[in-house]
Amino acid sequence: MEYRIERLPREELTAVSRLEREIFTDPWSYEALLSSYDNPCSVFYRASDANDNTVGYAVLYCIYEEAEILNVAVAPQARRNGIASALIGAAVEEGEKRGSSAFFLEVRASNGPAIALYKKFGFSPIGVRKRYYSAPVEDAIEMRRG
Ligand SMILES: CC(C)(COP(=O)(O)OP(=O)(O)OC[C@H]1O[C@@H](n2cnc3c(N)ncnc32)[C@H](O)[C@@H]1OP(=O)(O)O)[C@@H](O)C(=O)NCCC(=O)NCCS
Repeated sequence: MEYRIERLPREELTAVSRLEREIFTDPWSYEALLSSYDNPCSVFYRASDANDNTVGYAVLYCIYEEAEILNVAVAPQARRNGIASALIGAAVEEGEKRGSSAFFLEVRASNGPAIALYKKFGFSPIGVRKRYYSAPVEDAIEMRRG
């Protein structure tokens, strides 16, 4: 599948919001996305298909030497094409450029595909946050790289 990775233009937040609702049971609201987008510590990436539709996105949050991957998602029909890997690669590269050497994230304990993806990028489990997620209530695995 042909795709392109780039910084997300602000007007594509509506497409991201649509995907959030389609993919997650506890999606970020449009307002939360907007407020995160406008935070200078955040960087949003998008993956677009051959028709310039947004089919994936990732959100990075950097503060000095620490960075957090806040979100990664790919539209169901676009999965297993390396898109999430490309998004994370772009986010990690940008974090390193901004001076981050340690990357963190949280993931639902039952989310095997995402945990496999993060392990591939050198993330390792460092802890559990009990009942961190809602809808359904579930533990978060905290992971760290670097
Ligand atoms: C997790 C997710 C982002 C992966 O996106 P993707 O574009 O399909 O991922 P990639 O094609 O880059 O896959 C990279 C690696 O991740 C792992 N992986 C991805 N999907 C997987 C699956 N369904 N089962 C097992 N491993 C999987 C594999 O190791 C894969 O490498 P491989 O294809 O060489 O085997 C996607 O399934 C998704 O959007 N899920 C719902 C949202 C979500 O859970 N986001 C994470 C929140 S923390």
